[in-house]
Amino acid sequence: MTHHTAPRPTTARFSQALRGAVKVPGDKSISHRSLMFGGLAAGQTRVTGLLEGEDVIRTAAAMRAMGALVEKTGSEWIIQGVGNGCLLEAAGPMDFGNAGTGVRLTMGLVGSYDMASTFIGDASLSKRPMGRVLDPLRQMGTQVLEAASGDRLPLTMRGAARPAPITYRVPVASAQVKSAVLLAGLNTPGITTVIEPVMTRDHTERMLKGFGAQLDVETGPDGVRHIRLEGRGKLTGQTIAVPGDPSSAAFPIVAALIVPGSDVTIENVLMNPTRTGLIITLQEMGGAIELINPRSAGGEDVADIRVRHSDLKGVAVPPERAPSMIDEYPVLAVAAAFAEGETVMDGLEELRVKESDRLAAVARGLEANGVDCTEGEASLTVRGRPGGKGYGGTGAATAVETHLDHRIAMAFLVMGLAAEKPVTVDDSGVIATSFPEFQGLMTGLGALIEAVEGAEA
Ligand code: S3P
Repeated sequence: MTHHTAPRPTTARFSQALRGAVKVPGDKSISHRSLMFGGLAAGQTRVTGLLEGEDVIRTAAAMRAMGALVEKTGSEWIIQGVGNGCLLEAAGPMDFGNAGTGVRLTMGLVGSYDMASTFIGDASLSKRPMGRVLDPLRQMGTQVLEAASGDRLPLTMRGAARPAPITYRVPVASAQVKSAVLLAGLNTPGITTVIEPVMTRDHTERMLKGFGAQLDVETGPDGVRHIRLEGRGKLTGQTIAVPGDPSSAAFPIVAALIVPGSDVTIENVLMNPTRTGLIITLQEMGGAIELINPRSAGGEDVADIRVRHSDLKGVAVPPERAPSMIDEYPVLAVAAAFAEGETVMDGLEELRVKESDRLAAVARGLEANGVDCTEGEASLTVRGRPGGKGYGGTGAATAVETHLDHRIAMAFLVMGLAAEKPVTVDDSGVIATSFPEFQGLMTGLGALIEAVEGAEA
C-alpha cells in the first residue's frame, strides 16, 4: 500500500472579490499520455507545461520502471523512449497512488507484452473497478494472475504472448477504457478497433496520430465512432506543450462566478470540445464567461477565459453532455447551490466509480452545509439559494468528508468562499494529486483558505 500523510483539515471563508489573471497547471489527461507515449516512442520527447501532480509523477515512475528515461531539465521534461514494442518488465510493483487514468492506461500498455506487471495504489484506487479495462484485455490474451476481489488492486497481470487484435464496443462512456484497448493495440499485429457509441475525450487518438501511429476515426451519421489502429507501427518522439487543465480551471471559474465583485482571467486553458461541457452549462446558467483569444496550439484548441461574478439560474443539464464534463459535476453542484431555482443533473452513473462515489460525496457535503438537494441513483438535483445565506457551518458535523477525492476537496473549498459561514473539508492533502498549486493560486486571487489551526500535518 502507499504511504499516507496525516489528513489536513482546511477551511474556506467568505471572501472579498477575487481578482487577477492566473494560469492553472497542465492538463492531467494530456500529461499522463505525454509521458506514456513519449516513454514508448523511439527517440526523444520534450514536454513543457507538464502537470507535476502526484498522479502524473506516478506515471513517470512507471515508465522509468519499464525502461524509459524520464528527467526534468529546467522547465522541460525530456523523455528517451524505448521504441514501440520494447517495454521492459518492471522489477517491482508499480504504485499508482490515487490515479485511475495512470493505472488503467498502463494496464492497456502492458496488456500486449509477454511480461508480468503488478499494480498497487492507495485506498481510493484499491476500491475502483479494473474489470472495465481487463475484460477487453483478456479478449486480447491478457491473464490476471492475482487480484483483490472484483478485479481490484493489488493486481498482477501477464500480458499476451501472442496478442490478438479485437473489435471492442465500449460498454460505458469511458476514455480510459477506450484508451486501454488502443494502447494494447499498439503492440498487437493487425488492426485493433474500438467502437465508441458516445464520444469521450479524444486525447489518445489525437496524440497517437501525432506520434506517428496509423490511426483513423470514422464517425457514423448516428455519431458512433469507429477508431482503427494498426499495431506494431513506429512511434517517434514529439515536442509537446501541455495546455492548462480545464478540469482544474473549473475551480477558479466557479469561484469567480459566485464570489460577489469577482473578475478573474485564466490563461491558456485547453478548449478541446470533449472537455468544455462545464463552460457551456455555466453560460446557460447566466454566467459571464468570455473566451478571449481562442487559438490552436499543438493540435488542440486553447483560450483565455474571463469570468465575472454573475447571478446564476438553475438549468437542466442534458445527460448526453456528461462525458464532456464528467469531472466537473462536484463544482457544478456548488455553482448550482448559489443559483436561483433548481439545477437537475442526470446521466451521472459514472460518478459512482470515480476517486470516490462522487454523487454521494457531493450530496452529503451539500447537506452538511445547508444546501437543499436530492440524490438519485444517477442524478442530482440542487435547489439553490443566491447569496448563500445560512450556508456553511462550524464543527465536525459540517466538515465535508473528502474520501481521498481531490475534486470533492476543491469543490467544497470553493463553496466556502461565498457561503455565509466557513466551509471545512476533512483533508486537503489529496488536492496535490491533480492541482498542487490550488491553495496558493486561489489565495493569490483573494480567496480565504487556510489549514485548520492545530491540525497541521
Ligand atoms: C480520463 C478519463 C475520465 C476522467 C479522468 C481522466 C482520461 O475517466 O474522469 O479524470 O484521461 O482518460 P473515465 O474514462 O473513467 O470516464
